[in-house]
Amino acid sequence: YLYIALALLVAYLLGSIPTALWVGRRFFNLADIREHGSGNAGATNTFRVLGPKAGSAVLLVDALKGFVAAYFLPKLLVAYGAIAPEHELYFKLACGVLAVVGHIYPVFAQFRGGKGVATILGMMLGVAPATVGVCMGIFVVMLLLFRYVSLASMTAGVSFALLQLLPQFRPQQPFMVYVGFVLAALLIYTHRANIGRLRAGTESRVPLFGRK
Ligand code: G3P
Repeated sequence: YLYIALALLVAYLLGSIPTALWVGRRFFNLADIREHGSGNAGATNTFRVLGPKAGSAVLLVDALKGFVAAYFLPKLLVAYGAIAPEHELYFKLACGVLAVVGHIYPVFAQFRGGKGVATILGMMLGVAPATVGVCMGIFVVMLLLFRYVSLASMTAGVSFALLQLLPQFRPQQPFMVYVGFVLAALLIYTHRANIGRLRAGTESRVPLFGRK
């Protein structure tokens, strides 16, 4: 059990790396990105406040945290004989979810992190890539239509949960369906301030194609 506990701890610590905060500090002399833009320590707000290069870097690293936690940690557990191969999926999900929790409530940043979108994307790429592919398409369409990243993120997250109910995307383990819905609910919870702004008409839009 020591290896299992260790892997779960590493997953949480990996997710806890506050990429947006540290990129702002290290490369932009910005003390705390959470005092700018939407106040979120995530990729979207990094795009908004620090530009596309920094935003893409944060998106990549935050997604990698989820991917590494969900893909490699359980593989190590299997390799060291700590878990049986048929239980790997459960540990992928557990490590992935802990990375997401770390991202949202990072021990290295006063437990105020991001909203979980990039890290969920990364973890699910390691678990259900085809479903994620469709959700990324939905994200892009929603973003082009409405230009709200928050709305596109929530729609993609809910779509992931719903898609798994279709025979084409049915997961090997029915348990995955619950995880999908829990993560969709978590995304809606972390976006509660965005939902308030969307309803009030004050949510910031992405300036696409010169439209402000
Ligand atoms: O990256 C999370 C995104 O869905 C919303 O971010 O900064 O607009 O609240 P933000």
